[in-house]
Amino acid sequence: MTVNDSFPGPVISVHRGDTAYVNLHNHADFGITIHWHGVKQPRNPWSDGPVYITQCPIEPGKNFTYEIIFTREIGTLWWHAHSDWTRATVHGAIVILPSEGMGYPFPEPDGEEVVVISSWHKVDIDPDVEEEDTIEDIALPSSSAYTINGQPGDFCNCSKESTYHWLVDPGKTYLIHLVNGVMDVEMFFAIGHHNLTVVGMDGSYVKPLDTSYVMISPGQTMDILVTTNQPAGRYYMAARQFDTERPDIQADTDRQNATAILQYTGSYPNTSVPYFPAALPTYGDLTAGYSFRSRIRSLASKEYPIDVPKNITTHMYVVAAVDYIYRTNESGTTNVTAASLNNASWWNPPLDILMAYYRNVSGIYTADFPDKPPNYYNFAADELPDLITTPATKVKVLDYNEEVEIVLQGTDGIKHSTDHPMHLHGYAFYVVGYGHGNFNNETDPLGFNLIDPPEQNTVSLPKQGWTAIRFRASNPGVWLWHCHFDKHYTWGMNTVFIVKNGGTPETSVKGPPAYMPPCKSSALRLQKAGNSISGNTEEE
Ligand code: C2O
Ligand code: CU
Repeated sequence: MTVNDSFPGPVISVHRGDTAYVNLHNHADFGITIHWHGVKQPRNPWSDGPVYITQCPIEPGKNFTYEIIFTREIGTLWWHAHSDWTRATVHGAIVILPSEGMGYPFPEPDGEEVVVISSWHKVDIDPDVEEEDTIEDIALPSSSAYTINGQPGDFCNCSKESTYHWLVDPGKTYLIHLVNGVMDVEMFFAIGHHNLTVVGMDGSYVKPLDTSYVMISPGQTMDILVTTNQPAGRYYMAARQFDTERPDIQADTDRQNATAILQYTGSYPNTSVPYFPAALPTYGDLTAGYSFRSRIRSLASKEYPIDVPKNITTHMYVVAAVDYIYRTNESGTTNVTAASLNNASWWNPPLDILMAYYRNVSGIYTADFPDKPPNYYNFAADELPDLITTPATKVKVLDYNEEVEIVLQGTDGIKHSTDHPMHLHGYAFYVVGYGHGNFNNETDPLGFNLIDPPEQNTVSLPKQGWTAIRFRASNPGVWLWHCHFDKHYTWGMNTVFIVKNGGTPETSVKGPPAYMPPCKSSALRLQKAGNSISGNTEEE
């Protein structure tokens, strides 16, 4: 499934502060929704897109117009499908240029280039499987390859002839809009013989960071300057999986390097093999992955100020785990794989949360998502007992303008842990701290960066470690947050913030558009939710 016959999909190019309208016509034979990842959409959750959170699927043959309201976002974001596993092929970059008369906080680039890293699946991803079997013991199939701008590149025989080429002039500076659109893993990215300067991340500027490689999580975007100051020739741009899950096990992950070619114009012998980036870290290089992310700082200048909340009114400590639920059917009770936040494994409701909230429909969700883990254990231990979680539709309600701090804690569920790229809709948050092991709420806050923390919409929660984020709940609405590994999202590693209205029309959710896609399969889902899944926290 693609948008306008292209993979990756079309680039949406806007200026800062624009409002864009996208009319989506569904010609496929299953329902779909689209999310504008990182666009805050003030007061406008109606166009945010996550299925059963802010809308129901746009059914085959139907269309829906999204209103995408940009405000402070700048640089690079992206859009992708947000129903079933369709985002594997339904995604594309959003380029946000400075508004008129605004300029860049760095020398104006001579050219810009979009680079989208994606997953490629040879096996069909059957959307119906996921539709029917959410929270059953299923996993998104591993990808067969990764792609750069739609092609795995020279190291895949099937792609050799069509490797993506980027033509550059010598002696120029280009701005790369980099998107990680892969389904289930973080990626390293580098260019042979060329240094990178990261100047933006997740739609905000950062202090220029010179580096030989970047590590980018699914959901994240970056603005990167590259200067063509090398001898005229051909150089690989390469992307490689950063495997935090089982870096010691080589067999079951996709070890292929995706490549594209940065090619200088002009005449030079074109016969030699392009230079491969020696700086591209190896798959299991945890130090390379973690040290890169710890170097990111927001620009925090007069023109691009930041505003880190300092009077926290809501503290949350949220444990992310891959665990089990019990499933009972005619043939008895079995354990199936699930994922949870504070031991709640998200279960999609039959009617979207936004409509249920807006229209006061009861019985769709409960407002009891816990602020603290229900059980404490050594979260960062190497071996944990099998954890049992419960499918539920628990949301967290926030008052308007509350100042929120969430400490996310990673675990070692099911004998191996991994990073979790956690993404919040409707907001960008400040990443004030990172650490390994269990969070210590006495000593760790002393090291928080409240001066120039990066403003992100997706943060990589380190395996067996923690990260702390802060934001002000100034955008009323219904906002999903979740792990951006589709596998974990499917298994329930997500929940929802409902941010209440602030009491004036300007601080309240807008009214719904005249048409919202109706929720068709509600009866089926309601029945399924009620009858066939049972949570159980007791011993089997
Ligand atoms: Cu990139 Cu919930 O999405
Ligand atoms: Cu995850």
